[in-house]
Amino acid sequence: MLRPKPNIDKLISATHGGINYLELEKLGISPADILDFSVSVNPFGPPPGIKEALNQASIDRYPDSEATELEQLLAGRLNIALDNLVIGSGSTELIRLVATAYFDTDDLVIIPQPTYGEYEIACHLVGARVLKPPMLENFHLNLAETMSLIRRHQPRGIFLCNPNNPTGQYLSQEEVKKILSVAKDSLVVLDEAYIAFAENTWASVDLIERGNLVILRSMTKDYALAGLRLGYAVATESIISVLKRVRPPWNVSSVAQAAGVFALKADGYLDTCGMKIKEAKEFLVKELSRLGFSPLPSQANFFLVKVGDAAKFRQALLNKGILVRDCSSFGLPDYIRLAPHSIADCQKLIAAIKESEVYRNVS
Ligand SMILES: Cc1ncc(COP(=O)(O)O)c(C=O)c1O
Repeated sequence: MLRPKPNIDKLISATHGGINYLELEKLGISPADILDFSVSVNPFGPPPGIKEALNQASIDRYPDSEATELEQLLAGRLNIALDNLVIGSGSTELIRLVATAYFDTDDLVIIPQPTYGEYEIACHLVGARVLKPPMLENFHLNLAETMSLIRRHQPRGIFLCNPNNPTGQYLSQEEVKKILSVAKDSLVVLDEAYIAFAENTWASVDLIERGNLVILRSMTKDYALAGLRLGYAVATESIISVLKRVRPPWNVSSVAQAAGVFALKADGYLDTCGMKIKEAKEFLVKELSRLGFSPLPSQANFFLVKVGDAAKFRQALLNKGILVRDCSSFGLPDYIRLAPHSIADCQKLIAAIKESEVYRNVS
């Protein structure tokens, strides 16, 4: 039998939140009827009016490979030069581009755990080895251990997710600077997919001048463009020019580019959504605490909750049309991750939990 390369042969896909369409079909539930707390995208949807704007996008021509209009707008908003920016079909594409361009067979990459599964996949795709320091008991990154591993192994790359998926822990500027100071020969990828709705954030973009940092952001998350996918990377001109050489041509569809342009022009939309998300998160945390749960502190627009058997908990709620993220794939089989929706939808979640037999077992 024709086999793929050994590293691909061993590859296991990462688990993600979100709707499993086949599973719903078997349960006889329509995806439209699902209230999805398992993905951490903006729950208030894209800015109003976007559908009309997308109708203007030309779908009979190839898209602009440079995503010129979107890049110009974004560079202006971020106050950086065009040469410091590349757009991707979601930040996940950019994770793969970084690995393809910078990591080679047997290179070592450090990925503190638990975190987004696509970093490891991207490394395995190129045959790199992965070292996975576990978090501390309080769910924080083990900074001392991570720094000591970097000193000892001089890895080719390090992935830092900030705020981290799934813990919601946010590294301070000092902590990231400490890591950068011992990682001078490594490429540090700072994934800020969830920065737009995080609390008490600091500005990271100036750090790219150190020359070994790539910052990733996700407009998929910010503007609820999960069906289109849009992300970007910010780094020095030399890193960006490499990523641009590695990316496939026409990687971002015309429709996704038009969505990005429209979304960036929706002044104040992110701030308004951010305020509503904060309010809904506080509400949900309070209500869950009232039910006897202990949601973990988080600086992100999602948080972990210990529920006992997370797979069972997810299944019980799914039968009621509500989806939560079972965190077993993160090595946390007792935890679910929740990303708040509107307060009315959070009330539905609380009611569903109260009614469910898994709650009676927990309480
Ligand atoms: C930490 C992190 N980065 C990136 C992504 C991917 O987002 P995008 O749709 O921009 O590829 C996710 C999605 O779950 C994520 O959790």
